[in-house]
Amino acid sequence: MIAPRKSVTTSTLQRMKRKGIKIVALTAYDATFARLEDEAGLDVMLVGDSLGMVIQGHATTLPVTIDDIVYHTRCCRRGVDYAMLVSDMPFLSYQGSCEEAIRNAGKCIKEGHAGAVKIEGGVNVAETMKRMVESGIPVMAHIGMQPQMVRVYGGFKIQGKKQIQADKIMRDAEAIQEAGAFAVVLEKVPRSLADKITAALDIPTIGIASGPECDGQILVGYDLFGLCDEFNFKFVRKYVNLAGEIRGAVKSYGEDIRSGSFPSDAESYE
Ligand code: KIV
Repeated sequence: MIAPRKSVTTSTLQRMKRKGIKIVALTAYDATFARLEDEAGLDVMLVGDSLGMVIQGHATTLPVTIDDIVYHTRCCRRGVDYAMLVSDMPFLSYQGSCEEAIRNAGKCIKEGHAGAVKIEGGVNVAETMKRMVESGIPVMAHIGMQPQMVRVYGGFKIQGKKQIQADKIMRDAEAIQEAGAFAVVLEKVPRSLADKITAALDIPTIGIASGPECDGQILVGYDLFGLCDEFNFKFVRKYVNLAGEIRGAVKSYGEDIRSGSFPSDAESYE
């Protein structure tokens, strides 16, 4: 008998970095996708606040609430056995005070049954992160382009091209490692900067739009599945065109109903 695989923990990810084994991470928002992704061998499943865009249809992640994240984490939990399930803490659910951050992260873990939480920020959230970790909450950091700062940046712009920005991002990386983060998402920074940060840190870097030198990669599931075909991001590889498949299936379903061929005798009860 093959022994069941143990679920991924913070130490699994750190061991993977030491051994040079790439970390495979992806977002999910419901039990069906969570089960399929988990069965396919994901290491980290993020219930991203990107759900504000791909599930709720907003233009940014800013309207997402902590209750939205807890709800979707709970849905995913029912589909996941192996991957580490991470709740993404939404805009203004942790920036106000350490107490608020701990209370909201606690909801993700106690009510959503997440294995860890993710927060955006570096030096500015290091103290909060430290207090969260000291309270028993595993924290993944998110630096570089932070989508919750979209209004400050004036768009989802690459960060770290200018030396002064690159130096700041490196200081953020050092601060979150020092604060006890177990891993860090590096979003939309130049490949050379991601490489430098990956080499400088003991904790794993999980890149998105930051090149292949990171210790792992993450994408929004809906992008990889080709569900959002209005967007064509340079950094996304679409492995399937589900948008086209779904439109085709619904069109055929409509044709079959209108022609009277669905349901058939075999699809009906006597
Ligand atoms: O919200 C999200 O999906 C994310 C990942 C893309 C890193 O933060």
